Amino acid sequence: MSLESHDTTSKYLLDTGSELGRAQMDHLEQLLDPISTACLDEIGAGPGWRCLDLGAGGGSITRWLAERTGSTGTIVSVDLDTAYLVERPGIEVHQHDINEGLPVDGPFQLIHTRLLLMHLPRRVEILKTLVDALAPGGWLVVGEFSDRPLRVLTAPGDGDEQVHDHVLDVGHNTVARAAGVSFTWAHEVDRHMAEAGLTNRHSLAHARTTAGGTTACLLNLNYVRQLETPLLHAGITTEELGRFRDLMLDPRFRAWSYQFVCTWGQKPV
Ligand SMILES: C[S@@+](CC[C@H](N)C(=O)[O-])C[C@H]1O[C@@H](n2cnc3c(N)ncnc32)[C@H](O)[C@@H]1O
Repeated sequence: MSLESHDTTSKYLLDTGSELGRAQMDHLEQLLDPISTACLDEIGAGPGWRCLDLGAGGGSITRWLAERTGSTGTIVSVDLDTAYLVERPGIEVHQHDINEGLPVDGPFQLIHTRLLLMHLPRRVEILKTLVDALAPGGWLVVGEFSDRPLRVLTAPGDGDEQVHDHVLDVGHNTVARAAGVSFTWAHEVDRHMAEAGLTNRHSLAHARTTAGGTTACLLNLNYVRQLETPLLHAGITTEELGRFRDLMLDPRFRAWSYQFVCTWGQKPV
């Protein structure tokens, strides 16, 4: 089950089990669950399926799948940090690093992973491992944030747009990149699924405009709070951080949210 060893030293940047991590999971679930569950609905996840939810975080998709697959289904829910994942009949929880391979063997009728592979430098190799673990006819669903700019629409003060764009530029292109995060991966998933032999591939993209104080801005505020130290080391000033935080709470500030791209494909029977 283990992947060949190469460098896996890049460390996951965020801290799911912390207080900020809990709030991050809540924001992600509120923003993205309707989109992810629409994809899972379209696939037809249903009674008796054995599913893997990889990087399950707050566990909302694990619980949704458990509901769908019923008393005869099983959801294997995996995360480095299992603070919010609770075992119960039909849900198996594994605290595990996917860089070490899968914690249990397939086959799975469905593998779902959201906002995980974009963080992992060995994402292509891991995607192939996931495809190998699918049952014939099984589905892989990968949801990620893309590199579509979070363009500012309105901001209360002169210079606010520049502060916003600078903090995000350093966050994405210095801090996240140094940790092996890819924002281009979201639009590369389809090609890698094709190369791994998956058919019936589709993608759905979602972004919306958001104002300070609403969930997508609160998510950005949360990221900046979790990443304050590396952002300061990378050259963001305390004044810029302070202004960014204020903007994320100010209803006069409006911008585009992250674009979320959900891609799914099926292993041939
Ligand atoms: C951005 S969160 C997304 C959580 C959830 N999938 C969602 O979208 O709401 C990424 C999750 O992946 C987990 N994670 C990060 N690196 C991992 C690894 N190497 N193996 C397993 N889980 C990992 C983190 O602990 C975190 O819970």
